Amino acid sequence: MKYAENILGTIGNTPMVKMNALTKELPCLVLAKYETFNPGNSVKDRMALTMVEDAVAAGKLKPGGTIIEGTSGNTGMGLALVAAVKGYKMICVISDKQSKEKVDILKGMGSKVYVCPTDVAPEDPRSYYSTAKRLSEEIPNSWYVNQYDNPSNTKAHFQSTGPEIWDQTDGKVTHFVVGVGTGGTISGVGAYLKSKNPNIKVWGVDTYGSVFKKYHETGIFDKNEIYPYITEGIGEDILPENVNFDIIDGFTKVTDKDAAVYTRRLAREEGMFLGNSAGAAIKGVLQLKEHFSKDDVVVVLFHDHGSRYVGKIYNDDWMRKQGFLE
Ligand SMILES: Cc1ncc(COP(=O)(O)O)c(C=O)c1O
Repeated sequence: MKYAENILGTIGNTPMVKMNALTKELPCLVLAKYETFNPGNSVKDRMALTMVEDAVAAGKLKPGGTIIEGTSGNTGMGLALVAAVKGYKMICVISDKQSKEKVDILKGMGSKVYVCPTDVAPEDPRSYYSTAKRLSEEIPNSWYVNQYDNPSNTKAHFQSTGPEIWDQTDGKVTHFVVGVGTGGTISGVGAYLKSKNPNIKVWGVDTYGSVFKKYHETGIFDKNEIYPYITEGIGEDILPENVNFDIIDGFTKVTDKDAAVYTRRLAREEGMFLGNSAGAAIKGVLQLKEHFSKDDVVVVLFHDHGSRYVGKIYNDDWMRKQGFLE
């Protein structure tokens, strides 16, 4: 018989899928690392498990303890899976721009959810960063995960996602393109791939309203770059420790409209029912066209599943209200 000991044993080893319709104008092979096959339907299951395992080993998370995290939804889902299997309580603090589906899913997984305003500075006590931190100080036997600065986030991708991409491409990968939020995925995968072949180029996909691209290009943390945006999962108004700018070759910014429109095109033209950041990622790949040549193998990573966006990207009324659909 072949079976996993519990659901956590099914994390990782996700498929790699060739892109066809959307990338036909590109000269090279484009492959998608398809992370929705993880049990929580996102790449974040990988780092959630590693962060918990490392916290237990370091004595930071003790039996019967409460896991607390500020999350855009997917890390919360991964942590909730781990909490359910390993017997911890779970609190997620989420910002009010995230889809209602994400909040409902977290509650369905047994997590308590606090919703905080998006449009306040990170240091504001109402922000989801500050609220998560405060709760961890108030609740006894609790552990604040802090995916932004927790090195186990990057480590998970260095140990699993990176080696999988290397093996699945037989070491032929030449470019890695991915949306950047906490930075764990790009930094872990990027560092692993460059350790195997320093010529591999690593590109981050950023949003308008986020600080990453300008900071990477100038070293300036420009507050004027910060304003509200709609794309979920990528871009930041802070510099997380998990973004290793040294291993990133460049950023490209994708508009909210393009991210939404391309998410829908992935579903209709490739049969890929994916989240908002996947649309941003594939549009990012198309924007980088001039960097690719015939023999290149470009890997793009798709973070999460479309089911979390049925009330938004996949809802015509919502799309029209944003001005994304005629
Ligand atoms: C949907 C989605 N896309 C992209 C990202 C960015 O990944 P990372 O945090 O590893 O940079 C996240 C992270 O929260 C996400 O939830």
